[in-house]
Amino acid sequence: MDKFIINGGIPLKGSVKVSGAKNSALALMPAVLLNSGENIIENVPEVNDIFTMMKLLKQLGVEAEFNNHKLILDSSNITSQVAPYEHVKKMRASVYVLGPLLAKYGSAKVSMPGGCAWGPRPIDLHLKAMEKMGASIELEGGYIIAKSKKLSGARINFDISSVGATGNALMAAVLAKGESIITNAAAEPEITQLAQFLISMGAKIEGIGSNILEIEGVDELDNASVINIPDRIEAGTIMIAAAMTKGKIELENANSKHLNLVIQKLEDSGAKVLLNNQIISIDASNLEPLNVDVTTAIYPGFPTDMQAQWTAYMSIVEGSSTITDTIYLDRFKHIPELIRLGADIEILRNSAIVKGVKTLKGATVMSTDLRASASLVLAGLVAKGTTEVLRIYHIDRGYQRIEEKLKKLGADIKRVKTEEF
Ligand code: EPZ
Repeated sequence: MDKFIINGGIPLKGSVKVSGAKNSALALMPAVLLNSGENIIENVPEVNDIFTMMKLLKQLGVEAEFNNHKLILDSSNITSQVAPYEHVKKMRASVYVLGPLLAKYGSAKVSMPGGCAWGPRPIDLHLKAMEKMGASIELEGGYIIAKSKKLSGARINFDISSVGATGNALMAAVLAKGESIITNAAAEPEITQLAQFLISMGAKIEGIGSNILEIEGVDELDNASVINIPDRIEAGTIMIAAAMTKGKIELENANSKHLNLVIQKLEDSGAKVLLNNQIISIDASNLEPLNVDVTTAIYPGFPTDMQAQWTAYMSIVEGSSTITDTIYLDRFKHIPELIRLGADIEILRNSAIVKGVKTLKGATVMSTDLRASASLVLAGLVAKGTTEVLRIYHIDRGYQRIEEKLKKLGADIKRVKTEEF
């Protein structure tokens, strides 16, 4: 187990390159199951979730190579349609293989995903979409057993906007017979990128970037290559680090269009943000930040994946701020740990009521999930004295060596091996 040791109080300065988007890569990778050939995905972050997805695809027969942020995935010889519990329990995104396996091979046996740290995360919307396209779905021994001779196009409406279910339905529909229309589709940049990748394989998709996707099924798809988008959540996390430490940084290879609400909220708090091409500059030197309420929403709203980080920011801003999560109503495992650092926060249903304190004080805190651990690192960057963040395997799932990026910006942070298990 590794931990971070952080000495707080240093304003971040300098520039850093944003890595490729984890959540987009996790959708692009299983899409190669829809063709039979060599596919290339560039700008892939070296984070553990990517390696977990690689292991799963190899288990299905994909030949996978990964070096220097470039994935080569050859799907010419798929030998299995079973996604075993050992992979799916580690990463919910494994369920993304369901749609492509069903569409291309007519069968898929996928373990039900384990619940995440902040409560069960169902996949009923994924399964309903497959059934709508004619698949038979059985649940047996913790596995989903899906079968279909040939999927047929359907009208699929999602009562709740779901990134994963939209991705799975899209990957199933592109090889289904006839037309499909997906309404209340997620429009996150990850879904837009997936649709563009599918089109480069020969898929027919209209409405990209909107909540209504129209797909005309084709008989087969070709192999393709794609350059993955930058990680908007990593970029947003580092921008908040700059605001909290009253620093001045530049983010290279960022896509500000994917961060509108985060940028707007940072400006509302008093930070100066400059955009030009793929560089986002944020100047928070001598910033006396204002408290800003946030309510998370589906894209292009304020991302739930930035909720914990914003809570850490508001914990040191004078006055009271309300942070409400409408996507995951109980995504607050970071709060007790922030309170250990001296934050004054109360949870009220799906809102955190934050009363800003002058300073946080270093302590040992425990990561519980990916974005919760990011918020603890942010708090450690400003807490007086030393903060130890334990179980940082959580953060390694979604941030590529975050300590290297922060060190490059001047932070006093180091990774240390521990016996703690
Ligand atoms: C994706 O998860 C992201 N993961 C999550 O990021 C992100 O928090 C989430 O979207 C919301 O933006 C990846 O892209 C790999 P959803 P996903 O289906 O697809 C409910 C991170 O930190 N729902 O959009 O699993 C669900 O419970 C991770 O990088 C159903 O009810 O999320 C939630 O309340 C964490 N039934 C809401 O929809 C379903 O069948 C949105 O979930 C599916 C979802």
